[in-house]
Amino acid sequence: MKLLATIFYSIIFLSSLFSYYFFRKEKRLHKTRAKLPPGSMGWPCIGETLQMYTQDPNVFFASKQKRYGDIFKTQILGYPCVMLASPEAARFVLVSQAHLFKPTYPKSKEKLIGPSALFFHTGDYHARMRKLVQSSFSPEVTRKLIPEIEKIALSSLESWANGQVINTFHEMKKFAFEVGVLSIFGQLNKTYTNKLKENYSILEKGYNCFPTKLPGTAYHRSLMARRRLNQILSEIMNERKEKKLVTNNLLRHMLNFKDEKGNTLSDEQIADNIIGVLFAAQDTTASVLTWILKYLSDDPKLLDMVKGEQKAICESEYGENRSLTWSMTRKMPLTYRVILESLRKASVISFTFREAVVDIEYEGYLIPKGWKVMPLFRNIHHNPEFFAEPENFDPFRFENPPKPNTYIPFGNGIHACPGNELAKLEMLVLLHHMLTKFRWELVGPSDLVQYSPFPVPEQGLRARFIKEPTANKCYF
Ligand code: HEM
Repeated sequence: MKLLATIFYSIIFLSSLFSYYFFRKEKRLHKTRAKLPPGSMGWPCIGETLQMYTQDPNVFFASKQKRYGDIFKTQILGYPCVMLASPEAARFVLVSQAHLFKPTYPKSKEKLIGPSALFFHTGDYHARMRKLVQSSFSPEVTRKLIPEIEKIALSSLESWANGQVINTFHEMKKFAFEVGVLSIFGQLNKTYTNKLKENYSILEKGYNCFPTKLPGTAYHRSLMARRRLNQILSEIMNERKEKKLVTNNLLRHMLNFKDEKGNTLSDEQIADNIIGVLFAAQDTTASVLTWILKYLSDDPKLLDMVKGEQKAICESEYGENRSLTWSMTRKMPLTYRVILESLRKASVISFTFREAVVDIEYEGYLIPKGWKVMPLFRNIHHNPEFFAEPENFDPFRFENPPKPNTYIPFGNGIHACPGNELAKLEMLVLLHHMLTKFRWELVGPSDLVQYSPFPVPEQGLRARFIKEPTANKCYF
């Protein structure tokens, strides 16, 4: 009897102990699981969309970070979002736990670019396309493009120096588009280039418009232009398939692609990726170049120093044919730091979007499945803990490398920008010729920021370019 009682009380004791631990753990998990990040979800449905789009988005994000800390929730365009403003959190989403988050874009935008463009994808297809794109924009490939990029840069600069006031951002877009076309197709005849340019510019006008298929609307015109772009790209592909030239550009790599089972890429997949790369390459590079001009104009002493560096290259490095080489582009430390600092200060891609594919716990907070997650690049780049006096334009800060994961203008992880070397190279080439052969003056105000949707100085930075009388000394 005594034994039975002992067993009975032992069972009761052990099960109470077990339940205590079990429920404590559950409670702990439940407690942490249930805890959403701080923040406000705003009005029903629209959330805080109006606040974000009517204020300067940077002020919106910065004031939220000040109030709630590095992780906060909000609701934008009807989607619940978690915003992350610390380097560790950005790394968690983009690198270490990237498999728990997928890229996410509205369907209407996917339709315009083309659903097979690599940045909409994850997994095997993304990895394959990325390998192709990365190999087409590697430094070994892009360095061979320098003479052609120089021609584009010089003819752009000549066209600006005609006495007229230019919209710098618009002109930089034309430059970046032509370099994009060169890197995708290699040499492409003028008729095709012009047709691509004309239709792409219609396409991009509808990108941020209300997505309705009603004829006459900007979005509908974009869809029509996208169809025409498919036809033009098909013609180019057919010609290239016949010629079977051995060239080292993205189109050739995509046409030659075969996976381990012998599958090739369809014309649609190739076209979507070409439009995707043009889309990723144009406004980004153009807006950074526009900011560089603005920051240099605001600091005449720095401008003189950068000009000095570039003129020294003309005087000591130019060979017989008076053109730039890859090794010369590696001897521009100050100009390079001006580019790095402009990428930081302007942070033209202020944030990116992902979507949680499962419920995720981070730093004790729950990120529910299906919620959008936004690593805030700009907040990280403007945090005084990582960049002293972040509102100052100071290229010399890059004499010392930034702390790990605090400098991510080209993103991080499996979707990080494969075009970053090309972008920096084309900026160096344009700046070299601009600083050695031309001067410019800004026309009208330039202190306000306009969102298009990339941030650029107001009216695209109006400027007048003048060719220096000494230009020919540094000329071809
Ligand atoms: C200064 C200019 C540029 C900036 C600031 C920039 C920035 C970025 C960033 C932040 C991402 C990652 C987005 C994310 O994680 O969601 C990205 C992706 C990408 N960029 Fe760039 N980019 C620039 C120029 C270019 C150029 C010149 C090209 C091509 C020639 C290019 C092609 C791409 C592509 C294809 C992706 C998608 C990669 C993927 O999803 O795997 N970018 N870019």
